[in-house]
Amino acid sequence: MRSKVTKAIFPVAGLGTRFLPATKSVPKEIMTLVDRPLVQYAIDEARAAGIKEFIFITSRGKGALEDYFDYAPQLEAELRRKGKDDLLEILKSTNMDSGEVAYMRQHKPLGLGHAVWCARRLISNEPFAVILPDDVIAAEKPCLAQMVEAFEETQGNIVAAMEVPDAMTKSYGILDIKEDMGSIVSTKGMVEKPAAGTAPSNLAVIGRYILTPTVLQKLNRKQAGAGGEIQLTDAIDAAREDGEEVYGFRFQGQRFDCGSKAGFLQATVAFALARDDLRDELWNYISDVVHSEKAAQ
Ligand code: G1P
Repeated sequence: MRSKVTKAIFPVAGLGTRFLPATKSVPKEIMTLVDRPLVQYAIDEARAAGIKEFIFITSRGKGALEDYFDYAPQLEAELRRKGKDDLLEILKSTNMDSGEVAYMRQHKPLGLGHAVWCARRLISNEPFAVILPDDVIAAEKPCLAQMVEAFEETQGNIVAAMEVPDAMTKSYGILDIKEDMGSIVSTKGMVEKPAAGTAPSNLAVIGRYILTPTVLQKLNRKQAGAGGEIQLTDAIDAAREDGEEVYGFRFQGQRFDCGSKAGFLQATVAFALARDDLRDELWNYISDVVHSEKAAQ
């Protein structure tokens, strides 16, 4: 029988030190791209792919995330009283139904693989998705929905993938390609953050995964890998060694690395320019800046 993907894990336990001092009190995932928290983009993408259960792997200091998904009755009543129906609808669209969302604490920062493993009892024996909210993907058809379609065909493990420059391979999980079929690539290996000059290809893993329960079993070993952390990449590759398929999926869309400041700013500009209410004003400003920079040169 073909399995459906209805659960997604969102690892959000990281300290977000690259965004200090903001992340001293605000979880990185609550920081806003235009006017929506980073995590809302991930949730919307998951919903569009048919996800029904949302599992957040959190840590100390992430309480604001739980509050964000909660109902805000006072705020709703106030908006209703003032007749601000548009804002009320926006607010309501962020509410999560009872039982739809679960929070699991990762008590120690032992790596992405360990974070995913923390959700093992909530996943049990079915395929599941993992979304890293730092990787924001703008796409006509949301990236995870594209991957769910590919999974329905293949029923194998699928990781989102894109080509990166040589100098960047050391920052990603990198695929060792068995057969390149265009949008889908079968693999014969996967290396987490290979040392410079040793990457098996330029095809990097981006933070969207559809995985089989075998990967969770492999994570049971709690084996440390690159950087001394328990790596998701290693567990996926171990499932492949056991005879499962692992595919790379070249998605349609533009990915922003919102784990970096430059990526976050680029995403902010791109998402703002895509909005009818902001485009003209922002575009005029950017044009003015470019003109005066050019004139000064
Ligand atoms: C994680 C994964 C890595 C992947 C990357 C994508 O690394 O471990 O395999 O390529 O996300 O963003 P991180 O960026 O958390 O170090």
